[in-house]
Amino acid sequence: MSSLLEPEVIEVMEHSSANPENMPGDLTAEEKAEIDREASHYENKSAVGLEALRIVQKYRGWISDDTLQAISAYLDVPAAQLESVATYFQLIFRQPVGREVIYLCKSASCWIKGCDRLQQHIYECLKIEPGQTSADGIFTLLEAPCLGDCDKAPVLMLGEEMFRNLDEAAIENLIKKKKKYHADQSLD
Ligand code: FES
Repeated sequence: MSSLLEPEVIEVMEHSSANPENMPGDLTAEEKAEIDREASHYENKSAVGLEALRIVQKYRGWISDDTLQAISAYLDVPAAQLESVATYFQLIFRQPVGREVIYLCKSASCWIKGCDRLQQHIYECLKIEPGQTSADGIFTLLEAPCLGDCDKAPVLMLGEEMFRNLDEAAIENLIKKKKKYHADQSLD
């Protein structure tokens, strides 16, 4: 089975924890420089719509309407075109998400191997359903199409990492580890 989670957009999930509310609609010099670097491989900037979304999301955590307009103006491509790219590639977030996005595979093999049970367990640990973010702002749970590792179902992806052959204990460990990581970070 193929996956929508193309390798080149996986990096999108490792976004900054900067508060997007504080980011201006205009692109920063850093964002523009990165987009320009990507665009240098093509004849014109309009070819890098997905890359530009990915780059800006890395800094802001998600793509607001203002940000989408700013990218559209910078690349000189219609906002509607960028919107359809953002909608197709599920790793472009059009709403704020937590610092850790859990992609739980809900396709056939993972369903047979109990992804619903895992989803229920995530709910018990974090009180979130797909599309929701935990009260501490750390985790967002999203449903994903096949992640391409069906023989090791059930699987999920967190950050850039795949977790395979999961059961409830593995989910609990994973959540515990990530919570500790973020607690330690906030002490630094
Ligand atoms: S169904 Fe293929 S990885 Fe889940």
